[in-house]
Amino acid sequence: MLAIVASFPPGFLWGVSTSSYQFEGANTLNQWHDWERAGHIRSGHSCGAACDWWTNAERDLDLCAALGLNAIRISLEWSRMEPAFAHWSDTAVMRYREIIRAARSRGMRVFVTLHHFTHPRWFEARGAFLDGHAPELFRHYCKRAVRSLGDLVSDWVTFNEPNVYAAFGYLLGDFPPGRVNELNSALSVLGAMMRAHGEAYDVLHREQPGAQVGMAVNYVVFEPARDHVLDQQFVFAYDALFNRGVLHYLRGEPLPLPFAMMAPSAPQCVGKIDFIGLNVYNRLYVRAPFGEKPLGPGGLYVPRGVPQGDPAANSSYGEACPKVVCPAVEAYSALGCPLYVLENGVPDQSDRIRPWLMVNSIKETRRMWQQGYDVRGYFHWSLVDNFEWSEGWRLRFGLYELDPSTGARTARPSAEIYRSIIADNGIRRETLERWEKAPEDLPNEESTTYTGI
Ligand code: BGC
Repeated sequence: MLAIVASFPPGFLWGVSTSSYQFEGANTLNQWHDWERAGHIRSGHSCGAACDWWTNAERDLDLCAALGLNAIRISLEWSRMEPAFAHWSDTAVMRYREIIRAARSRGMRVFVTLHHFTHPRWFEARGAFLDGHAPELFRHYCKRAVRSLGDLVSDWVTFNEPNVYAAFGYLLGDFPPGRVNELNSALSVLGAMMRAHGEAYDVLHREQPGAQVGMAVNYVVFEPARDHVLDQQFVFAYDALFNRGVLHYLRGEPLPLPFAMMAPSAPQCVGKIDFIGLNVYNRLYVRAPFGEKPLGPGGLYVPRGVPQGDPAANSSYGEACPKVVCPAVEAYSALGCPLYVLENGVPDQSDRIRPWLMVNSIKETRRMWQQGYDVRGYFHWSLVDNFEWSEGWRLRFGLYELDPSTGARTARPSAEIYRSIIADNGIRRETLERWEKAPEDLPNEESTTYTGI
């Protein structure tokens, strides 16, 4: 008899997460297409046909079914739905209906994200979330989405990682519009997204009384490099803003000082949350950049000798860290709503470290559920290799390897490991024993710097 050492409750959701720009292909109407054409992709690649979902998502949905998934998260491309201001596309709706139907007919509950970093060019031209009308424009789009798809979907994620969107676009310059060190703008954008979330929450519920409306946040463990008060203060600031900014807004609490003085309020989002998606990948270390040469922007770095996946073009992707699940769950349980691990993964072309990361993250998820936290699902990022934003095709996150030139999909060993965990609704003793300890050759010595979160 098989010994399952970490079993999950019946009905636990096993999924993969995806996003429109990274999977669909042929998206030319959003701000990322322009960013790409302006030469900002470090690998020099272009997104192109991506994973070709606009033509044939069904091929990958078959892979999902073969894995035994009972859930999937996709996103809608706002620029397909509303290619020009107030012009709506029925063709886009028809294709999304086909994709969602195809997923449902293969046994998957479909979570739909309404904004996963991309939006129409016309919205970017107005200033995106710095435009005072942004929450209203987003609300119109959400209303259209629920009216067109509400008979097939009731799990909505308004925004993917507003914390990453604001930090990468306005502090680090890694995402469009490529602004750097604009803390005021970053806080204004975060506040506007929270107002937009509140408006979207209301309209989704008005149009669909059974809707479940959540949001996905990226949670990073920030670790002080030394037992030094300055390092600890930096950690406090990163944690307060990056990890807990969304939490403060949803609870109607001001951000800690000094951010409270700069951050706009968003009373319309308070308490408006039916679930939280936790996107958990990394630990980063913080050494306050005073008196010594900074190791990375804002004192963030990744030391040698910690588990890492493949490096990004100019830096480490971060320490791969299954333990992030616990503080993320603890922090967001304060909202009293269901939680899903909505993304977890590692860039790893050769599947050197993914089995360890995945098995242990699932184990941590189960530990939190066993302790009484309302964790209802685990979604891996991702099914197949996909277009990784400013890193292009360089970073490979798939359970399946994708050759973008031929479209061929090849299972990595992690795909079979995930399939067996899903089939057992738990982790077998031998799987845990095999993967619990990090392989000896885990540490990646190539890079200690870090340029993004
Ligand atoms: C984002 C995904 C991205 C993944 C890997 C997440 O923060 O939501 O779009 O591909 O991280 O970097």
